[in-house]
Amino acid sequence: MLSRGVLRAVTQGACSPAIARAATCSPLIASRSFLAESRRAISTYGYTQSKALIYSKYGEPKDVLSLHKHSISAPHGTQVNLRLLTAPMNPADVNQIQGVYPSKPPFQSTLGTSEPAAVGGNEGAFEVISAGAGVKNLSKGDWVIMKRTGQGTWRTHAQLEESQLIKIDNKEGLTPLQIGTVSVNPVTAYRMIRDFCEWDWMRAGEEWLIQNGANSGVGRAAIQLGREWGIKTLNVVRERKTPEETQALKQELKDLGATAVVTEEEMLTGNFRAMVHEFTRQGREPIRLALNCVGGKSATALAKTLAPDSHMVTYGAMSKQPVALPSGLLIFKNLAFDGFWVSKWGDKHPELKENTIKDVLQLTRAGRFQDIPVDDVKWSWDTEGPELAESVQSTLGGYRSGKGVLTFTGGD
Ligand SMILES: NC(=O)c1ccc[n+]([C@@H]2O[C@H](COP(=O)([O-])OP(=O)(O)OC[C@H]3O[C@@H](n4cnc5c(N)ncnc54)[C@H](OP(=O)(O)O)[C@@H]3O)[C@@H](O)[C@H]2O)c1
Repeated sequence: MLSRGVLRAVTQGACSPAIARAATCSPLIASRSFLAESRRAISTYGYTQSKALIYSKYGEPKDVLSLHKHSISAPHGTQVNLRLLTAPMNPADVNQIQGVYPSKPPFQSTLGTSEPAAVGGNEGAFEVISAGAGVKNLSKGDWVIMKRTGQGTWRTHAQLEESQLIKIDNKEGLTPLQIGTVSVNPVTAYRMIRDFCEWDWMRAGEEWLIQNGANSGVGRAAIQLGREWGIKTLNVVRERKTPEETQALKQELKDLGATAVVTEEEMLTGNFRAMVHEFTRQGREPIRLALNCVGGKSATALAKTLAPDSHMVTYGAMSKQPVALPSGLLIFKNLAFDGFWVSKWGDKHPELKENTIKDVLQLTRAGRFQDIPVDDVKWSWDTEGPELAESVQSTLGGYRSGKGVLTFTGGD
């Protein structure tokens, strides 16, 4: 187990200068006219054929996403050609397509689209299929993830610069799913727990964090990191259709390492105060951090459980309700309310982001960090655009049994 001391050392490591921001896809990408047939012919005249899930205006995914076929040239210089392994569909990806997310990838014509367009998706695992002569650290068969968000991961193949990629140094014991989902949710949970609270390592096992959306990707990561770091977790989920299903979800999170799991309904009843008192050994164990991805009444209820001088970090707004706070929490309890955005943080701290990813993958390899439940959407060369767009559309549906992930089943 990683001790709190060791982790503090990792998180305090120096950050490198910001990475170069330029570069998207190669201008050598040929237009769609290069392809006549729908079946994929591998590497005709040295070109790799590719399909990308693109949008050229904002709207609902089912209305604006379409599949665009194009060809990618053999890589030159420091370029690398990639094949998709797995890419998740996260809530933020949908918000981006709807045009309501603060970061918007620019619409470009580099893929030979009839209108300038962006490729959907922000994270995913890719395999190197070929590398230019100037590429130093990547070769065929290596697995990589994109260094920054906003590069477009929903595509069967891509051509990027080596400098835009993070190589997975040791893929032994890891699956594409684990690699393709490591850079957003686990990193978000990790940084929020490490960077917003000065945990007292002498009190390992006696301090708590509370979170809503606890069955989300971020929530599940926070539960497991809390377990590893000796932080107890009080987890809030929404009630399921039947008591049995609710019980099963609570048990699932407890099996991951959750100390306690309650429903939002239980949290919003008058009895919750007494429950928290009981969980925390009559208040002797402080709740020092709240992680909020829901907002509204749920966020207020989380904040009320916090010990004086604690922090609440808001990182999502799934209920679309604003965070409303009783003034007393600010005046008498001196609580601090922060926000966290992993994209911005990652751009500012690229080296620390890589170290955080390595740390999580190390835990994964050791069997101490489990995969999220997924709804696997197989993407073959013949999969139609509307089918993929529907899968993206269902991302924000709520009460899902697993996160949607696109898994490319075609070859190089
Ligand atoms: N700020 C950042 O850097 C950052 C990074 C990663 C994620 N996020 C945000 O964190 C949140 C979770 O992301 P994720 O990828 O971990 O999610 P996810 O795995 O797709 O899970 C979605 C979560 O949202 C809950 N939910 C959905 N609709 C809801 C509603 N109307 N009210 C309350 N809860 C609702 C779901 O609960 P049910 O199962 O009950 O539907 C589930 O717990 C999202 O808001 C996402 O944008 C932010």
